[in-house]
Amino acid sequence: MAIHFHEQTGVFILETQHSEYQMRIGRLGYLQHLYYGGPAGGSEMSHLVRQADRGFSGNPYDAGEDRTFSLDTLPQEYPAFGSGDFRESSLRAVYADGSSDTDLRYRSHSIFSGKAVLKDLPSFHGGEGEVETLEIVLSDALTGLSVALQYNVFAEKDIITRSAVIKNESGQPVQISRVLSCSLDYADGKGYEYITFYGRHAMERNEERTPVRHGEIVASSIRGASSHQQNPFVILCEQGADEEHGRCYGLSFVYSGNFIAGAQLDQFDSLRLYMGIHPEGFNWLLKAGESFATPEVALCYSGEGLGELSRRFHRACRENLCRGVWRDRRRPILVNNWEATYFDFDDDKLVKIAQEASQLGIEMLVMDDGWFGKREADVSGLGDWTVNEKKLRGGLGSLCERVNALGMKLGIWFEPEMVSEDSDLYRAHPDWVLRSPGRKGVRSRCQFVLDMSRGDVVDYLFEAISRVLSSANIAYVKWDMNRHLTNVFSAKLPAGQQGEIYHRYMLGVYELLERLTGAFPEVLFEGCSGGGGRFDAGMLYYTPQIWCSDDTDAIERLQIQYGTSFGYPISAVGAHLSACPNHQTGRVTPFDTRALVAMAGTFGYELDISRLSPEEKQQVREQTAFFKKNYALISGGDYYRLTGPAKNPTYAAWEFVSPDRGRALVCYVAIHAQANAAFTYLYPRGLRPQGRYAFTVSDEQYLLTGAAIMQGGIPMPRLSGDYRSLTIELEEV
Ligand code: DGJ
Repeated sequence: MAIHFHEQTGVFILETQHSEYQMRIGRLGYLQHLYYGGPAGGSEMSHLVRQADRGFSGNPYDAGEDRTFSLDTLPQEYPAFGSGDFRESSLRAVYADGSSDTDLRYRSHSIFSGKAVLKDLPSFHGGEGEVETLEIVLSDALTGLSVALQYNVFAEKDIITRSAVIKNESGQPVQISRVLSCSLDYADGKGYEYITFYGRHAMERNEERTPVRHGEIVASSIRGASSHQQNPFVILCEQGADEEHGRCYGLSFVYSGNFIAGAQLDQFDSLRLYMGIHPEGFNWLLKAGESFATPEVALCYSGEGLGELSRRFHRACRENLCRGVWRDRRRPILVNNWEATYFDFDDDKLVKIAQEASQLGIEMLVMDDGWFGKREADVSGLGDWTVNEKKLRGGLGSLCERVNALGMKLGIWFEPEMVSEDSDLYRAHPDWVLRSPGRKGVRSRCQFVLDMSRGDVVDYLFEAISRVLSSANIAYVKWDMNRHLTNVFSAKLPAGQQGEIYHRYMLGVYELLERLTGAFPEVLFEGCSGGGGRFDAGMLYYTPQIWCSDDTDAIERLQIQYGTSFGYPISAVGAHLSACPNHQTGRVTPFDTRALVAMAGTFGYELDISRLSPEEKQQVREQTAFFKKNYALISGGDYYRLTGPAKNPTYAAWEFVSPDRGRALVCYVAIHAQANAAFTYLYPRGLRPQGRYAFTVSDEQYLLTGAAIMQGGIPMPRLSGDYRSLTIELEEV
């Protein structure tokens, strides 16, 4: 059993392999947080909660004259607004009489094996014996509002997922203006750092580390998507924690819309971490008898640094978040025509790329934007999901047959959530877009956002996309989203429910994904939003891989993929080798370096293969063979960040280790060549200390123990010229 309840003390203990989480039903029935960290060896941690008479921190009325008992200073599990806790609350409800105090106390709990599916939302899942659930119901005796807190313990994976279901048992409508998924209090919050991943289009997920300070540090998005600008994955770690040392906590939001994730250090140095739907623009009308389920947060603790924290998330995302046949199957090496042709293509051009690619070990052609409606440029056609037969003469079926005849699969691009002003769909249904009455709306990339909160819009898209997918042997879908939400108003909802749209939009997107992935289980779906603008655990539930960034420059990708790797597995990272000079930066990098960086991801190509020299084509043959041979190691192995951009600006290195530790692959890129440079030593990790590993670096052969390699390091040869790279394959003998 991973979940224990101690009747006499009211303490709940949740155990995973390397972590423990404790809370208790405290005085007056308030649910208090006690501890989250390494295994505590069976001791209850109630002694960590201290009380004192604190001025200006009020006391619940039924605490009598005990001025030391205050919700403003006690650690809690799900703090409600209006209870005397002035810190960030998890829940704010406005009742029919206009009051907004909620007083949540313990009502009941249940423990069971398995995990209930979160209705209409993505969530982690587990097989028989893999997950146990604790549900604790808190309720407000006066108003009848209740909260069922869910704790799902994936003991082997060291993951605990949390969510909350708010139920209105008041008999009257209630407005929920704030509802978070998780709140975590640390009685002693001193000496922590908060790591967030900020960015912009074409430079996503840069690691940023800030000492926690009094007040708050917040990562958030109100763009209607998790966004390029901040990612809904954050880490709290002890000061100085590095890849191998230190206590770290990761929080991953299983949601792709607006979010808030904050770290708040209060007046007494207690720390509150919180995560959930951003309250800005959110207001949910909960009618009598109705429930609202929050999205899920996945929590992980590592006492062995950031590297182990990431590996735990990687395993859980791969095995307990991704679903369907493509969770475990080797994904095809693809060539995408976007950077090869942009909008300027026809069937012959595509077949030519496929023909060349099929000779080189590439397995799938992905036809990107431009194959449908009136889509000669990015200003028209979105929403009209019918084949443009001027470009694809003979239609999609014919193109597919020609590509399949070469032994290649065919994939296709959609941007389902969008509509161009210049499209038949928009002309027929101008009310299907998000737009406030009387306003023209904000254009972005010359397109509007469809109102995904509407059932008729979701039905239309399901039928239109299904028609295309059924019309030919389509093996893959790239699901793009190229602008953010503005003018968030739905013609379908009454005035009092407009605050529900951001979330209903996401529910509509998820419903469409669920229906399509269910109807086409063999199709591999790849997420995308102008690159990595919706790279989150919510999307991974439906799309086991996500295009990581529109920046395909190998050197920029080092940083983007480094940041991405903290919360997401390599098998999820869409990465392609593209042409030089690179289209985003103009940089010229060696062909093999571009391949090596793309192989720290799903690996594919995005350039006109027919323009490659014979030598480059030979390299492609070798690269595809190498990737296939090492697929299990790369996409299913343990990933180690051997360097970081801040610490090692002149070179980058990472490593994959097989689960049995018998094989490892070290990848090295010398970013910036220097005259008379010092020697660089790499320190691989994760090897069996007593194992003996054979490997070659340039022409030098080695046979060393794992301990010797990990302790002493491997000296790198001095590579002449910028952006040179090499790989080292270690094999236990
Ligand atoms: C943005 C994507 O990230 C690109 O890869 C490409 O698909 C374009 N959209 C097409 O419009």
